Amino acid sequence: MRVGVLTGGGDCPGLNAVIRAVVRRTIGKYGGAVVGFRYGWAGVISGNTLKLGIDEVSGILPRGGTILGTSRTNPYKADGGVNAIARRFKKENLDAVIAVGGEDTLGVAYKLYDQEGLPIIGVPKTIDNDIPGTDFTFGFDTAVTIATEAIDRLHTTAESHNRVVVVEVMGRSTGWIAVKAGIAGGADLIIIPEIPITLEEICDVIRKRHERGKNFSIVVVAEGAQYPPDAPDQEEGGVVTTGQTTDAFGHVRLGGIGNRLARAVENVTGYETRVSVLGYVQRGGTPTAFDRVLGTRFGVLAADLAHQGDFGKMVSLNGDRVIPISLKHASENVKRVDMELFDVARTFFG
Ligand code: F6P
Repeated sequence: MRVGVLTGGGDCPGLNAVIRAVVRRTIGKYGGAVVGFRYGWAGVISGNTLKLGIDEVSGILPRGGTILGTSRTNPYKADGGVNAIARRFKKENLDAVIAVGGEDTLGVAYKLYDQEGLPIIGVPKTIDNDIPGTDFTFGFDTAVTIATEAIDRLHTTAESHNRVVVVEVMGRSTGWIAVKAGIAGGADLIIIPEIPITLEEICDVIRKRHERGKNFSIVVVAEGAQYPPDAPDQEEGGVVTTGQTTDAFGHVRLGGIGNRLARAVENVTGYETRVSVLGYVQRGGTPTAFDRVLGTRFGVLAADLAHQGDFGKMVSLNGDRVIPISLKHASENVKRVDMELFDVARTFFG
């Protein structure tokens, strides 16, 4: 059995755990071989490969990022990309390819399986935790842990200076990181893409805290949240971006809502307001134990599916069980924040 593996999309803690598990299971249990493709689908198109034996994956479990490198390459947008991939499968004599990625990488994986009949298995990853069909993606727990620690640290400055601190966290389409880290860090308000909010409502929450003697506030905002429609500097489109360019999957580059909000809140309330944008720190460094274990379990099951020839599947976490489901799920919408969870968070607003 000869298995290919690639990592696509944004990097995420736990990717190396998956690669290690795929290699150890394929070689150790099935006597197969594994070839890594560098930089996501780009490596399959161009034939940029890396031999992955037991030695190559030794010591990578606690390492962040991905030893294979990653990119946001969309073969359906690259000239001859799909044909090049089909040829690569033959040339490399591959029985299966395991694609580790988010909605975009897995969307491509599903199309290649469905329309080209290629033997592909998906492994969902993203710090955003927004892939349907799986309770959690690895990377999310690490991001939440990092953001929670940041909120704890920001609390001490906010409290010492009587300031409002706006903390901008990642989350392109959903507010999972904002809600979980906000609950864990004791946020006084959490703003997410799923729940639009006005500037007046935001300022009311902060004013009420001041009225009950709390002279500081922590506001957590997801980068993909809608900018309040009643803010004076509101622009077309709702979300705040760092430019007009889009990636190969049509996504704009988000970022900046925290700064804009902080300015607007200070103008309306008169309270001194600062911002902290956590950015890529949330995706960097060593994965938590939870993410190492989840990545490892996903990698082992993906290798088993490759051996069984059970293609067009995505591994997923269902309760405490890791199970295969249709890869189609990965490209169906996004998994939005559970409103029961948001209601828990809301209990502590103001
Ligand atoms: O999907 C994960 C994520 O970190 C999002 O939270 C964020 O919007 C996006 O990736 C940033 O992507 P890039 O690495 O292209 O800046």
